[in-house]
Amino acid sequence: MKVAIAGKGGIGKSTICAGLALWLAEQGRQPWAVDADPNTTLGYALGWPEELLAAIRPLSEMRDMLARRATGGAEGRALFALSPPVADLIADYAVERDGIKLMAMGTVTEGGAGCLCPENATLKTILRELVEEDADILVDMVAGLEHLGRGTATAMNGLVAVTEATAPALRSVGRIQRLAEDLKLQPVVVAANRVRAESEIDQIAQEVAPLPVVGAISYHEAIRAEGVFSGPAGAAFRREIGALAEAIDSALAE
Ligand SMILES: Nc1ncnc2c1ncn2[C@@H]1O[C@H](COP(=O)(O)OP(=O)(O)OP(=O)(O)O)[C@@H](O)[C@H]1O
Ligand SMILES: [Mg+2]
Repeated sequence: MKVAIAGKGGIGKSTICAGLALWLAEQGRQPWAVDADPNTTLGYALGWPEELLAAIRPLSEMRDMLARRATGGAEGRALFALSPPVADLIADYAVERDGIKLMAMGTVTEGGAGCLCPENATLKTILRELVEEDADILVDMVAGLEHLGRGTATAMNGLVAVTEATAPALRSVGRIQRLAEDLKLQPVVVAANRVRAESEIDQIAQEVAPLPVVGAISYHEAIRAEGVFSGPAGAAFRREIGALAEAIDSALAE
């Protein structure tokens, strides 16, 4: 699967992204997990230690490297001008653990700059390159729809919209769907998160139709408290994530 994971702020994008990455890695697939949020959290959701996360070189550095090594000048063409295989080059910017390669956008370091246009452009270039690889790619999107609007993730083969049965979360799904359609980023599938009752899944299915709800993750107190895959709730979460992953795989294969 090569998917962007989107949804309202705090809905569980990073949790689900991390869960999918861990599950794929357990299956012997070697996913790329891409944290497109400048407020980096995916590494923590994966449960990786601070020292390891500190070793991630942010995409902002990669942009500088690309600019230095570019021959054509245009950032979009820069990668093609480099001699090492692109995936190897990109891998230099990732940290790898247990079969997962994690890459991060990096925080905005220039105070007041605020604009992430260059980072977004670099991210878009990298995702266009990575998509050629025979590997799973999970892009943990930032909560706002800015990335989507900029088409950062258009190279992916689909989008997973995470929601719960609340009006704001469901409204976000509607907006995401419209943007994804404009960008021709299809299919869009829906994952229900923090589900506390079966009826919530039915409600979500009704609200998001004709988008399919391809999976449901229960509310797990241990996940909120301790993080992904730890604690006794880990096994139940893993089962739900596994079912979600299989459903995403088949939705993308259709
Ligand atoms: N299924 C779940 N059960 C219980 N808690 C959950 C579940 N999914 C996510 N959470 C908790 O909800 C909070 C938000 O989750 P997460 O950080 O994954 O959301 P997000 O959409 O990535 O947020 P942001 O928009 O800030 O990036 C976290 O505390 C997380 O542990
Ligand atoms: Mg997040």
